[in-house]
Amino acid sequence: MMSTDRTEQLRAIRDELVNLKESPLYDYRQRNGYFPVIGQGDHYADIMFIGEAPGKNEAETGRPFCGASGRVLDELLASIQLERTDVYVTNIVKDRPPNNRDPLKTEIDLYAPFLERQIGIIQPKVIATLGRFSMEFILRRFGAFQANQKISQLHGTVIKVRTAYGRASVVPLYHPAAALYNASQRDTLEKDFQVLKQFISAGESGTMKLL
Ligand code: URA
Repeated sequence: MMSTDRTEQLRAIRDELVNLKESPLYDYRQRNGYFPVIGQGDHYADIMFIGEAPGKNEAETGRPFCGASGRVLDELLASIQLERTDVYVTNIVKDRPPNNRDPLKTEIDLYAPFLERQIGIIQPKVIATLGRFSMEFILRRFGAFQANQKISQLHGTVIKVRTAYGRASVVPLYHPAAALYNASQRDTLEKDFQVLKQFISAGESGTMKLL
């Protein structure tokens, strides 16, 4: 049996997030009966997808990307023969911002250390960012962001970074929501997903864990 160390460490993160009363989003979560969205997927995944923040469906279920954007993500994964169980999916901000507004800098700063711990636990070879917030956060975090770099320039490229656990690649992608009403964005996302293929190693499929 595989060690459950990673799962235990992720559970500790979950417990801290559940009790994160200092978050400006905590009261909103409690009033609406929402859950924090920690992450979901294989704790040994090679590829980790990082979105922005949970929407309504996600906050109601505690699962990342389970609404309309999630359906697009599933189709994009299927286009490279992957399922959710093969990857790990999470967000920068773990609680839903009211009315799906963009996350504030203070919120990103508060939740970022949890994401950084998740990256350190899962140690993905590839960090695929979904949308510009996630791209900018991750590239800055690994000292690879240059001023004025736009997602329109960087999407679908492979950016090598050095992490505490060794080398990794960041692949910036557009957010799947961009493909919902825009066919050309959908084509771009499909093409960019092909870039991930080189990182897929054959092996047994992971197990789906909600944490
Ligand atoms: N959008 C995100 O960025 N994350 C989710 O989990 C859902 C929608």
